[in-house]
Amino acid sequence: MTVPSYPLGDPSASRLAESLLAFWADGGVDAMLLDEAVDRIEAGRILPPVRPAPAAPPPAAGRASAGQPDVSAAVAQAQALAAAAGDLDALVAAIAGFEGCPLRYEGAATQPVVYRGDPRAPLMVIGEGPGTDEDIQGQPFVGRAGKLLDRMLGAAGVSDRVLITNTVFWRPPGNRTPTPAEQAICAPFLERIIALVQPRMLLMVGAASAKSLLKQEDGILKLRGRWFDWRSADGTLELPSLPTLHPAFLLRQPGAKKNAWKDLLTLTERLDRPDRPL
Ligand code: URA
Repeated sequence: MTVPSYPLGDPSASRLAESLLAFWADGGVDAMLLDEAVDRIEAGRILPPVRPAPAAPPPAAGRASAGQPDVSAAVAQAQALAAAAGDLDALVAAIAGFEGCPLRYEGAATQPVVYRGDPRAPLMVIGEGPGTDEDIQGQPFVGRAGKLLDRMLGAAGVSDRVLITNTVFWRPPGNRTPTPAEQAICAPFLERIIALVQPRMLLMVGAASAKSLLKQEDGILKLRGRWFDWRSADGTLELPSLPTLHPAFLLRQPGAKKNAWKDLLTLTERLDRPDRPL
């Protein structure tokens, strides 16, 4: 196909662009993505609106300077807010008021998405980040992938013993994978959820969750089905953790469901019979 070229400002070009966009929108396209996620914090293109202390001293050498995004300031602010939250309701309110995560201003159309399920659950499922349906409904895993996740958890007999959350609490634009910086900024809140709920074990669904929480470089196909020890940043919590395949991946690759099922059996074996040696 030959793409016509127009001189700058030619109204025919805008008409062509409009009609092309309408064509894509009719076909269900609602976002434009680059091949690789852009880490806008690292790129310094978006300044997370972390409120600086009133008379902040000049930044030390090597630290982010004024006007530069400062991930460590956002993390410190998240840590302080998370530590002050005495229960899940307070934590949800703290996340809703937190302005340090750029996703809040980029991908989230409506609201933060924090958790659903039993606040006393022995099992915590951690996905990567909310998608479009989650952003609209304010709950994690409520879209197509979430429905599959629910069926899997139901088949494994753990539906009523689970709390579901994500590594980030706002929808990344175009449902892209959250960046390590975005995950680092949200991590104090996630750790606080874990500390408040005190689950017996974690199920990490998908590479973005497993790699960031377990600090692993391997892909999910290598990590899945193996037990790891997750440790909180302050070293006070340690939990057995099992990475598995993301339900969105299973929707695209149904042949991989048998591996996910194997992982769930590994999980329930330990959940239901904690004293049995592995
Ligand atoms: N995928 C995720 O990782 N989390 C959600 O909440 C929804 C889809």
